[in-house]
Amino acid sequence: MSERQVRLGLAAYGTGWDAHAWRLPQATNAGLRDPSVILDIARIAERGKLDYVFAGSALGSEPNHLQRIFRWDNFIYASQAAAITKHVGFVVSVNSSFEHPYLTARQVATLDHFTGGRAALNVVFGIDRNGGPDLNLGGNAIPDEQSKYTRGREFVEVVNKLLYSSWDDDFLLDDRANNQLIRENSWHRINHTGEHFQVRGPLNVPPPTQSRVPVVQVGTSDDSVQFGADLAQVRFSPYLGVERGKAEYQRIKDLVAANGRDPEAFKILPGATFYIAGTKREAQRIYRNVINSQVTEEIPRAFSVALGIDLSRVRNNERVVDIIDLESLSPTAFDDFLPPLGTEKRHIHNRDDRESIRTLVSAVGEDLTLRELYHHVQRIRQAAQPALVGDANTIADWVQENFEERVLDGVQFFPPYHRGPADLLVDLVVPELQRRGLFRTEYESDTLQGLLATDNG
Ligand SMILES: Cc1cc2nc3c(=O)[nH]c(=O)nc-3n(C[C@H](O)[C@H](O)[C@H](O)COP(=O)(O)O)c2cc1C
Repeated sequence: MSERQVRLGLAAYGTGWDAHAWRLPQATNAGLRDPSVILDIARIAERGKLDYVFAGSALGSEPNHLQRIFRWDNFIYASQAAAITKHVGFVVSVNSSFEHPYLTARQVATLDHFTGGRAALNVVFGIDRNGGPDLNLGGNAIPDEQSKYTRGREFVEVVNKLLYSSWDDDFLLDDRANNQLIRENSWHRINHTGEHFQVRGPLNVPPPTQSRVPVVQVGTSDDSVQFGADLAQVRFSPYLGVERGKAEYQRIKDLVAANGRDPEAFKILPGATFYIAGTKREAQRIYRNVINSQVTEEIPRAFSVALGIDLSRVRNNERVVDIIDLESLSPTAFDDFLPPLGTEKRHIHNRDDRESIRTLVSAVGEDLTLRELYHHVQRIRQAAQPALVGDANTIADWVQENFEERVLDGVQFFPPYHRGPADLLVDLVVPELQRRGLFRTEYESDTLQGLLATDNG
């Protein structure tokens, strides 16, 4: 077994990740109001010995956005899912632009105790989301682009002080004869007075079970990467392709090392969605069904300009390999074509568009049409993550190549729809990764920090 092991997570969204796959005949959308759908995701993750289940943050109201129509409360979900599992961890997202560090510290410390050390905190900023989180949580000062990171940093700083500096480990004296339950001077006010928060402390929940509840972060700007290197243990990185991803991985690890931290302990885990079946052909059929279930709209001129083709001369069902010269295409071909979605900023710099097209052609087959490519590109702009299509070997090969090339330390998998794909991932891909010596066959730690092998910051 190779020493460096892949880390794997599974996302728990009631409807699955794919904006169109919910229309497949085999998909269930019961998860919109039936919690058992994502409770099962936790059971499946544990069956596969996965590191964690991930729950994102959505505070706005977006009745038209598939994954955000409804979102269960993360902490309640995680504590219930923990009660039906023993080992798998829970990465719970909070929004530092709207939530308060004292309440967050209480929740995460409570979750960490009730789960025996299986909690991690994903800190997002989410001011740029559609759906108006600011309109739902009005009345408070909302940070802007400039202050979201200063507030995010202060947020993590206060959470950490509350968790790790409120109480000494030996606070419990339990001296009944002398009527002294708590050791004298064993607790401390944190007396935090900052730009965004005033918190006295101490926290009224004991210090967490884990010596450091892993902090997870995501973002695309340089500020975001630096935030991770300074304050987080895990980064959900956008996926940039192998060549560019390698350089980005090294850049991030160097920033972590520059802080005197062990770069190996810092985990880089991009997201990926996946269309899997027992055979490649069947997986291709499912994926094509999904991309073709998108409403056929006119392919915009900007798309053909980006690809260097003349739309008046090609039909939408022509094969991509016949009409696009990948060699002469720019790696940033889609940049102008892909404006940020709504007010949301998901500028993914450095992504290699040629590589995404090549990967798609090899996944779907050489008969991939222009219209299918157009639909696919519209999808990646929403997801900032690749769509893997194939059998267990295809997906295991992708994980192995990216892991061994040091593009990533693991993958957070987003099931495109429910039910089925998560089961197939765990029952087909995980055993393949285990056979290749890349993934654990038994849980080797009781805590999420132990499973992820992350540091104390
Ligand atoms: C892949 C990805 C996933 C994200 N997921 C969430 C989320 O679940 N909830 C949220 O409020 N913000 C989410 N964000 C937004 C980030 O927290 C952050 O606000 C945004 O990326 C802007 O920061 P930046 O300018 O550094 O990129 C996500 C961003 C990316 C790139």
